[in-house]
Amino acid sequence: MNNFASYLRNKKKFLILGCGFTGSFFAKTIKKFGYTALTSSRSENKDPNSFVFNSEKGIVPNEKIFDGVTHILSCIPPDKNGNDPVLESLKNKLQSLSLEWVGYLSTTGVYGNTKGDWVSEIDKPNPFQKRSHKRLHCEKEWIKSDLPVQIFRLPGIYGPGRSTFEAIRNQKIRIISKKDQVFSRIHVADITNAIIYLLQNKDSLKFHQIINIADDEPCAQIEVIQYCYDLLGLKMPKPILFEDAKKDLSPIAQSFWMENRRVSNNLLCETLGYKLIYKNYKTGLKNCFLNS
Ligand SMILES: NC(=O)c1ccc[n+]([C@@H]2O[C@H](COP(=O)([O-])OP(=O)(O)OC[C@H]3O[C@@H](n4cnc5c(N)ncnc54)[C@H](OP(=O)(O)O)[C@@H]3O)[C@@H](O)[C@H]2O)c1
Repeated sequence: MNNFASYLRNKKKFLILGCGFTGSFFAKTIKKFGYTALTSSRSENKDPNSFVFNSEKGIVPNEKIFDGVTHILSCIPPDKNGNDPVLESLKNKLQSLSLEWVGYLSTTGVYGNTKGDWVSEIDKPNPFQKRSHKRLHCEKEWIKSDLPVQIFRLPGIYGPGRSTFEAIRNQKIRIISKKDQVFSRIHVADITNAIIYLLQNKDSLKFHQIINIADDEPCAQIEVIQYCYDLLGLKMPKPILFEDAKKDLSPIAQSFWMENRRVSNNLLCETLGYKLIYKNYKTGLKNCFLNS
């Protein structure tokens, strides 16, 4: 990580487009190295390093924001028409800059349903949900843009302030069991640190345009929920079978259960040598428990 501090000092300027959960964690982490990134959100806020970018309202950042930018991380999902908000509004601008690197946060939803099998970057995407088709379209647009883009495919993101604990505390938890169903997940700190690791070792590692960032242990949702109840010292209510729960779920919640896959992190962790901070949900959730 110390290497990263010297990497940053060497005239790097970061823009983080979409400073939501992951974007703000990334910005905060960079700040710890004494470096400030400029971050976007859709409406004004008090942060002096924040600027407004809202593709829906046609609000684009002031030209000055882009002066000297070398690195961009886009954490913005596709818009309702399935287009990428950044490329729709800012592609020409980005292409006019001397960018060293662009990171794009995508989803492992592009792989579709593998019926529980492992899936890796060499597998052909096979999106099932409409939103995943839109996402794959955005990935393709980023690749076509000829910008120096690296795409990170992410499973369910959790971290302090956004995890099963909040769902339990806010009584929004649904305890559903579905035989043989697993989910992959990733702690927000590992998304951030993996990206930092790849940047820091950019010159020595082979460049891969698409990289999964997932933990080592895809598992059933109910295991995760049980673990949280145990940490909270509470008794977990009896689970409902998916078949019985289905009718009361929203279409989006139902779609979540329609895909079953294990996302491989071999490229990131074996080939490229990144060491996960949180290898599985237990270590990751312990961190959330202690920081919430
Ligand atoms: N959450 C997950 O479990 C998960 C899993 C896999 C992949 N992903 C993807 O990974 C990325 C980061 O996820 P996240 O959960 O950290 O995202 P998030 O918290 O929902 O943040 C999304 C950011 O995008 C901005 N944004 C949305 N639409 C925009 C538009 N039309 N114009 C300008 N800005 C716009 C939002 O602005 P405001 O700050 O103003 O709201 C926000 O800053 C997203 O693309 C997400 O879809 C998420």
